[in-house]
Amino acid sequence: MNLTATEPSVSNAGNNAGAPGSQEHQDLRASVRVKELSERDRRRMLMHFLALADSDRLLRFGSALPDELITKYVQKIDFARDTLFGVYDNALKLIAVGHLGFSSRDALPMHADVTNKERVAEFGVSVSSSARNMGIGTKLFERAATHCRNADVDTLYMHCLSSNQTMMRIARKAGMEIERSHGEADAYLKLLPASATSVMREAVDEQVAQLDYTLKANTRAAVRWLGNFPGFK
Ligand SMILES: CC(C)(COP(=O)(O)OP(=O)(O)OC[C@H]1O[C@@H](n2cnc3c(N)ncnc32)[C@H](O)[C@@H]1OP(=O)(O)O)[C@@H](O)C(=O)NCCC(=O)NCCS
Repeated sequence: MNLTATEPSVSNAGNNAGAPGSQEHQDLRASVRVKELSERDRRRMLMHFLALADSDRLLRFGSALPDELITKYVQKIDFARDTLFGVYDNALKLIAVGHLGFSSRDALPMHADVTNKERVAEFGVSVSSSARNMGIGTKLFERAATHCRNADVDTLYMHCLSSNQTMMRIARKAGMEIERSHGEADAYLKLLPASATSVMREAVDEQVAQLDYTLKANTRAAVRWLGNFPGFK
């Protein structure tokens, strides 16, 4: 089964994803393509965030932000400073968004002793409820970690509620150090320096994701065009 094969397969993922560890499940995970987002994705990002339930908004943003504040958050995303990643379904709907925010180490005194590098990175992620448990959150995290390495950042930070078992699972799998206090958790990952392999991996992943996006866009356009002919549905 291909995650990106059809919109229904994504929305029915909970039923069709296959048992964890099964070949079907592994194939599904292997087919997740993470693409870097740009200014022109802002509207689709907004649609993705607005579709999150209050409980997911609480987990993602630390509070159940109303639509108005979500809109402000999306409007303020600075693509020149931060890096955004996304996963699209076949209808080119964004089903997941990862926000890798960069800030100066000095701007965050609590990070001052964890790195000698000038910048640190913080990662926030959300996956549409219909597309969960297919490895998308993990893939977004891995891509963000590789991007950090290649951007000379050696500390990746994540803040979430300690009750967020799914995110805790992703953090633990990645080898993150987790500090808990007052129901919240700060997770840190120390990253290796960039290597030829990490640079190549990121470049290849992005190329494949762009190709995947183009194929989906072309298929969608062709289907729409054929739909203009009598007899085609
Ligand atoms: C957290 C979130 C991004 C995970 O996305 P996802 O695509 O479902 O994650 P993945 O499929 O890559 O991995 C989920 C892992 O958690 C495990 N998991 C799922 N539910 C779990 C639970 N209740 N307890 C423990 N582990 C759980 C899965 O089995 C999987 O582990 P595996 O890869 O070893 O099988 C998604 O649930 C989400 O958007 N939640 C709301 C927003 C949020 O919490 N954001 C994080 C704050 S920054």
